[in-house]
Amino acid sequence: MAQVVPIPEPPAEERPVLVLDLGGQYAQLIARRIRECRVYSELVPHTTPVEALRARSPLALVLSGGPASVYSDAAPSVDPAVYELGVPVLGICYGMQLLARDLGGRVEHTGASEFGRTELSVTDAGALLAGLPEEQVCWMSHGDTVTAPPAGARVVASSPSTPIAAFEEPARGLYGVQFHPEVVHTPHGMDVLKNFLYDVADAPPAWTPAAVIEEETGRIRAQVGSEKVLCALSGGVDSSVAALLVHKAVGDQLTCVFVDHGLLRKAEAAQVVETFRRHFHVPLVHVDARERFLGRLEGVTDPEEKRKRIGEEFIRVFEEESKRLGAIRHLVQGTLYSDVIESGGSDGVAATIKSHHNVGGLPADMELELVEPLRMLFKDEVRRVGEELGLPESMVWRQPFPGPGLAIRIIGEVTDERLEIVREADAILQEEIRRAGLAKDLWQSFCVLPAIRSVGVQGDGRTYAYPIVIRAVTSDDAMTADWARLPYDLLETLSSRIVNEIPGVNRVALDLSSKPPATIEWE
Ligand code: XMP
Repeated sequence: MAQVVPIPEPPAEERPVLVLDLGGQYAQLIARRIRECRVYSELVPHTTPVEALRARSPLALVLSGGPASVYSDAAPSVDPAVYELGVPVLGICYGMQLLARDLGGRVEHTGASEFGRTELSVTDAGALLAGLPEEQVCWMSHGDTVTAPPAGARVVASSPSTPIAAFEEPARGLYGVQFHPEVVHTPHGMDVLKNFLYDVADAPPAWTPAAVIEEETGRIRAQVGSEKVLCALSGGVDSSVAALLVHKAVGDQLTCVFVDHGLLRKAEAAQVVETFRRHFHVPLVHVDARERFLGRLEGVTDPEEKRKRIGEEFIRVFEEESKRLGAIRHLVQGTLYSDVIESGGSDGVAATIKSHHNVGGLPADMELELVEPLRMLFKDEVRRVGEELGLPESMVWRQPFPGPGLAIRIIGEVTDERLEIVREADAILQEEIRRAGLAKDLWQSFCVLPAIRSVGVQGDGRTYAYPIVIRAVTSDDAMTADWARLPYDLLETLSSRIVNEIPGVNRVALDLSSKPPATIEWE
């Protein structure tokens, strides 16, 4: 079960739909889907005191699924007082069973479990399934079954082995579905959620990127006042969007520091400077530290040693620059809602600076208060906010890129010559992938330069040159990944362009490994 965050102080204007996490693997997904319906939603622990729930003035509550049986000793439950809050409650799967158990219905282990694709029949008109086909497919995953709905509730759908697949009791605001509307395998799932949100809960689709920007900039102004703010810009989507939000809120009180460590992709540094300084007029300190980093990497072949040296050097450069800027009280960090949920979180602004994933660690002893404008957003929402703020598409859709950059895609020593090879190969790969229209389908795609050379023949001469390995993966979260099935004609173009256009390369290989057992990066 994912750990969840205590409810932070509510901004007065927000009326969220709160998802009570009962341990289901899809609990976080429910909140995301509700947000996709443009209604603000947060995941909260099922143990959240009723008074804390009431204080948020939620428009509705959703009880998530969960792995337990409602009658087992370890079964998570909610304080029955939540049913008296006067807002509609939607129970999903386990949440539906909890509603039934708590409010005069019955749940039994009938032996009629359903897992996976299931036929669903709408048996009675109601609000949840209004406007949907009478026969449809849904996704089920349950061992127990509701055999009697809460007192007074009407059954509105059934499946072949579950006579009570959905119920409604409008007078008490109780709604339950045995299936999972939040997963893509329930094709009409989003319609069910929209029916619940828009028609039952009267929660309008008002949570748009523009609304997020307005709310966040107000919050930033309140936090920062007239003090100065610092942001370490990496060029990645999170730090870019965070910086733009803060700039929109407090203008030139923000200074961005962009450390060019020379390990970036082709034209990346120029693009960051162009976008932020010229286009958005964000005060930007561009530190050209390429020589320094290359010097620190001389002769280093161990991957962890590379990472360590790059991290240390980054901190040194960043500290030097921030000292130069004088008294600064706040530091922007692109923490996302998924980080907050996974780390168990804390309310408000975190007290200490955790190592910044994209830049490989910031000084531990800098006394700065964090400004985290993306703290309540999922990655796809950050992208939409970035689009709304006018960030170029190439930056909004940028693939994750490791803080130590190309250094960990060069096996063995990082030299100017080897950096040039891998950077040029990567540029060809990115260009061709974009041309093939595959950029958004891939989690990451890049080139690796191994520390071996092999014999080849080019023109009339024998060569002894490096291979380039193409790595392209699909993934949802980088925890696991599969190698991408790139089309043969794309591979052919890549192979011929890379060997013909890059001196020092005479072979192209394709990495066919998934994660596990491999990792995405090679070092
Ligand atoms: P692996 O190679 O472990 O990578 O499968 C998983 C994800 O993490 C990224 N990655 C890094 N990011 N510093 C970073 O900021 C690093 O040292 C680092 N190593 C791997 C990798 O690109 C992938 O998205």
